[in-house]
Formats: sequence, C-alpha cells, structure tokens
Amino acid sequence: MQFNIINIPKLKSTNSYAQELIESGDLHEGDVISTQYQKNGRGQGDNFWESEHGSNLLVSIILEPSMVPAQRQFVLTQIVSLALVDLIKEYILTEEVKIKWPNDIYVNKNKIAGILFQNFVKGNHIEFSIAGIGINVNQKKYYSEVPNPISIIHHSNSPTNLKVLLDKLLDKIGFNYETYRLKENFEELKSKYVINLYRYNEWATYSDGNNPFQGKIFDIDEFGRLEVMMKSGEEKKFMFKEIEFVE
Ligand code: BTN
Repeated sequence: MQFNIINIPKLKSTNSYAQELIESGDLHEGDVISTQYQKNGRGQGDNFWESEHGSNLLVSIILEPSMVPAQRQFVLTQIVSLALVDLIKEYILTEEVKIKWPNDIYVNKNKIAGILFQNFVKGNHIEFSIAGIGINVNQKKYYSEVPNPISIIHHSNSPTNLKVLLDKLLDKIGFNYETYRLKENFEELKSKYVINLYRYNEWATYSDGNNPFQGKIFDIDEFGRLEVMMKSGEEKKFMFKEIEFVE
C-alpha cells in the first residue's frame, strides 16, 4: 500500500481537517495528514487530546476500505491497534504493551496511544475511514485531566525520531490492511487482538455504571463487543461505554 504524507505544521485537529477534505473530494486512500501541533486535538467522546508542540505523533490516515462490510467495521480497529502494539513493542522492550479495549494502547497501567476512528458508511460498506492516531513519544509532562499518560521517552534513554516512527507505523498498518484485503483473515485478527487485550483472562474489577463487579475478559464478538465472564459463570457482552475498567 502506498502512503502519501501531507504535513501541515499546525492544525485544529488532523481528523477534522481530513474530514473536511474528504467531504470536498480531495483526499483518498493512503493519504496521511500529519501535524506537529493541534489546537483542538480530539479524543474519544468530548475528550481533548493533549500534545505539546513537536513532541508526539499526530496523524490521520485515510482509508477507503470498500472490502469491509459495515457491520464488520471493528476489523479496522483490530488492524490499527495491532499495528500500534507491534510498533510500541519495538521501542519499549521490557514492559507489557496491551490494547485496552476497544482501542487504547497501554504500557503496563498507563496510556501511551489512542485512536479516534471516523467511519463513513454507504449502503453495506465503508466508503471512507479516518484513523486518527496519537502516540505519546517525547513529551515528558502532561498537564490536562488525562488520568494516566505515559510516553515512549519514559522508557527509553533518548528521544525518538518521529519520522522514522511514522514510517514504521505506516508499514505495519499497510501490511495488516493488505493481508486482510487478500485473505479476509477475520479469525486471525480477532485472536491476535484478543490475546493482546489488557486484562485478558484475568479476574478484575469492572463497573457497568452502577455496580462494581468481578469479571474476566474472555473474547470479543464480530461487532467488537467485549465478552466478560462473571463470577457466577454468566457471560455478558458490553458495547463501548457500557463497561468501565475500575483500577
Ligand atoms: C483517544 O484515546 O481518546 C483517542 C485519541 C486520538 C488522538 C488523535 S491525535 C491525531 C488525531 N486527530 C485528532 O484530533 N485526534 C486523533
């Protein structure tokens, strides 16, 4: 897969910018919007994505995944999160790198990267997808409300070159994406994703908004819902925002 990096030093948000250009027909599969600073970096929900000028990786990758059925769009989350885990493991060798469901990347108990997907569905297929990716790389201190951020620099002796990091990221995403296009390897992606989940197969405390409970993550379904076993043996499925990880 060919990528075409478009760097704009300062933006409101790479995702918002990508969305505007997609709507005007100016962006296509493989285009990557990258920036050094976002005035209004967007996280999940209404969250702000903090990133000091020039320190971190901030990109939006444009895909036209016409081969992905709309109801299987979670496969894109798997493709990108697995690429991120693989990438971050190359930089942080001695710690645990995991996916906190659905798409946060954690080093031990700290968040190192996040993904903001925007999928544009047409009929039964996805016409465009914007994969907005933020990786905390060289920033040493965080000031906003983010509960537990960490950067690659906290686990390495020297600053990381952002261009090299981006090239490696694109290689890994491209590889996973092309493999999926050729083989439709749903099962393989799912099992890799599941075994890389933070707290996979461990008893831990969760909350469904009202009550804390003990549960064990054991799988996800084809829609990306999290499957959790209760102490009673009952199995429950959760959509995003229906379950909270309690520390
Ligand atoms: C999250 O974990 O809440 C998702 C964070 C996604 C942040 C990235 S940074 C580049 C891209 N542009 C944005 O405005 N957000 C994403």
